[in-house]
Amino acid sequence: MNDKPTICTLFTEEEILERVDQLGAEIGEDYAGKNPLLVGVLKGAWVFLADLTRAVTIPHEADFIQVSSYGSETQTSGVVKLVMEPLTSLAGRDVILVEDIVDSGYTLKKLVERFKAQKPTSVEICALLDKPERREVKVDIKYTGFPVPNKFVVGYGIDWDERFRHLPYIGYLEF
Ligand code: IMP
Ligand code: MG
Repeated sequence: MNDKPTICTLFTEEEILERVDQLGAEIGEDYAGKNPLLVGVLKGAWVFLADLTRAVTIPHEADFIQVSSYGSETQTSGVVKLVMEPLTSLAGRDVILVEDIVDSGYTLKKLVERFKAQKPTSVEICALLDKPERREVKVDIKYTGFPVPNKFVVGYGIDWDERFRHLPYIGYLEF
C-alpha cells in the first residue's frame, strides 16, 4: 500500500469545535440534574472527549475503556479485543459512550452489551463520526457529530496505523 497518502480535508478545526460545542450543549440539556459518566473509547476518542468534556454544560465525570479491533489495515477485523476496562463502577450511572467513528458497528454493539450487564441506569452513544454505508449491525446513536462517506478518515484522534492522530482537522486518505 502507498506509504504517503494525500489527506483531503473533510472538516476543519473550527467546524469540528463548533459541532462539539453543540453536542455538549445538547448533552447538558438532556442530562440536566444528573451526573452522567462519559466513557471514551481509546485511543480514537481521546481528542474528541477532551473537547467534549469542556463543552458539556453540566457537571459530569469521565473515564475510558480501551479496545482494539484494527491492525495496520484499513479494514475492520470484526474481532473486538478489550484492552482496558473503566475504573468507575457503571452500576446506577447514566453512561454515555464516546466514540470517534462508527463503522461496521461491532465495537459499539459489543460495548453496549458489556456495559448493560453492569446495570447502569442508562447507556447512550455519542459518536463524532458515523459511516452509515458500512454498517453491519444495528446500533442506536443518540448523538452524532457528522456523517462521513465511505472513506478512510484520519485526524482529531483518529489514526491510520497510529499515524495522523495529531492533526487538528479531519480528512480522508487518498492513496
Ligand atoms: P466498527 O467496530 O467497525 O464500528 O469500528 C469502529 C472502530 O474502527 C472505530 O472506533 C475506529 O477506531 C475504527 N475505524 C473505523 N473506521 C475508521 C476510519 O475511517 N479511520 C480510522 N479508524 C476507523
Ligand atoms: Mg475507535
